[in-house]
Amino acid sequence: MPERAIGVFDSGVGGLTVLRELRSQIPDESLVYLGDTARVPYGTKSPPTVLRYAQEAARFLLAQRVKLLVVACNTASAVALDDLAERYQVPVIGVIEPGAQRALEITRNGRVGVIGTEGTVRSGAYERALHALRHDAVVFAAACPLFVPLAEEGWANHAIARLAAREYLAPLLDQGIDTLVLGCTHYPLLKQTLQEVAGPDVKLVDSARETAKAVARRLTDDHLLHHATPASPPRYFVTDIPDRFERVGGSFLGEQLQGVTTVSLD
Ligand code: DGL
Repeated sequence: MPERAIGVFDSGVGGLTVLRELRSQIPDESLVYLGDTARVPYGTKSPPTVLRYAQEAARFLLAQRVKLLVVACNTASAVALDDLAERYQVPVIGVIEPGAQRALEITRNGRVGVIGTEGTVRSGAYERALHALRHDAVVFAAACPLFVPLAEEGWANHAIARLAAREYLAPLLDQGIDTLVLGCTHYPLLKQTLQEVAGPDVKLVDSARETAKAVARRLTDDHLLHHATPASPPRYFVTDIPDRFERVGGSFLGEQLQGVTTVSLD
């Protein structure tokens, strides 16, 4: 088992922020990544649709005989994590719980802001995760739909992104939050802008980083860590032509993306 790969999926390029953290924190692991680019975005779709997409993505990765599944998409984690964890034998890790846990470790006043897609915010998944860990946490959530296209356009540090961040964050900052969870795979790219707008007193939680830590912990606990180096390079699959994924994904990953294969999930 330990020599098997970890399966990672997202609606598109966003989950590469999680894959990047996995590579940096557990470099000996082999990784298989699926970006469901034919059906991106998930953030605007209904829960039953996202659940079906997530089940199909998971089935594809399990057919690659992965030892652990990472749902590297906040929207899919919000609506499909419990279903996938019940359905399959391998451990299934999502991005919400690790971010929620970290937020509660660092908040001083218990007032936590969460930003994500419409689907993630509508689901209330972060509120549930935060309240399950600390019932008196006060949570304020806001959907920030423009951040995904801005990050993909390479405009994360552009004046437009700052303007959008001011609009989106104002209601949360007015509530006196001291911690802000980046509840979408794309948002780590906007960290600099978000920190600038939120100010130095607000701590940002990068859920991609926390998720990689949770994966490392789970592999250790389950005696599934792989120790031999070098790991084989990640294998990338998408459900539409790879051009845009390769181009945009390269900037998410911080290196050139190669060898992307198109597959059908039917
Ligand atoms: N990956 C999605 C998320 O983290 C953002 C992009 C989408 O809407 O599909 O929620």
